[in-house]
Amino acid sequence: MIPPVVPIEDWPQRLEDAVALTRQFERVIVLQETDSTQDAAKRLHAAAGTVVVAARQTAGRGRLGRPWADTLDVGVACSFLVSSRNSERLAAASALGAAIAVERVLGSRVSIKWPNDVYVNGRKLAGVLIEQSGPLACVGIGINVNQGHFEGELAGRATSLAMLGSRVDRVEVIVALMCSFSDTLEWANDRLAKEYDSRCLLKGCDAELRSGPSIVRGRVERVNPLEGLEVLTQSGRVCLPAANTTVNSLISPNPAYDEVD
Ligand code: BTN
Repeated sequence: MIPPVVPIEDWPQRLEDAVALTRQFERVIVLQETDSTQDAAKRLHAAAGTVVVAARQTAGRGRLGRPWADTLDVGVACSFLVSSRNSERLAAASALGAAIAVERVLGSRVSIKWPNDVYVNGRKLAGVLIEQSGPLACVGIGINVNQGHFEGELAGRATSLAMLGSRVDRVEVIVALMCSFSDTLEWANDRLAKEYDSRCLLKGCDAELRSGPSIVRGRVERVNPLEGLEVLTQSGRVCLPAANTTVNSLISPNPAYDEVD
């Protein structure tokens, strides 16, 4: 069944009502169309506690300079302004905020691909981009909601809530995201670490990792997004800092993990 579509003119009231129920966010700005909610937030000089939402985002960007596909009227694009000096905590809270929002809609668990992509069945469902400017961070979250399929490079690599069997109104997903992200921002470090670890696709994989200037090969035994990755190498166990560790390639991939940075 296709749920009723909340008309765009009703988004501000629905989202203002929802933001009032969160502890971390105070106001929401709804744009009919924008290039990137990250850039719109900057142009508007949005303060901490603001959520910028676009009904359509035409030139979104992802991590590592990648583009984020036009949301048309089927995807969710939001930027959250938060004051944070702890980038590891913020990265973990953002990934978990996105993961838990889609879990509430889907009714099932999802996975996190290091550092903060949300994956289901080997395909990407949501992505997070964090841009820091002094004590203010702009956390951009994109979620694929009602796409029926993806074309070209994204075919076979991306998925949506609809493709996973959940047809929901985008406003419902944004409300779930505002609530879950507000919650995860308040979680204690040990809860963030435990919840992240239990969803992490990289755990248990044999991987080649880049950590600063070093290349390290081994089995990823533990992933703590606040501290680092514990890797068993041929010469012993090492802990690689979360902040500067990326995945070069997987040596024995987890079948659910089909893409590396
Ligand atoms: C990634 O997977 O590389 C991150 C994707 C982040 C996309 C979101 S959509 C809302 C916000 N605005 C943008 O331009 N990007 C982020």
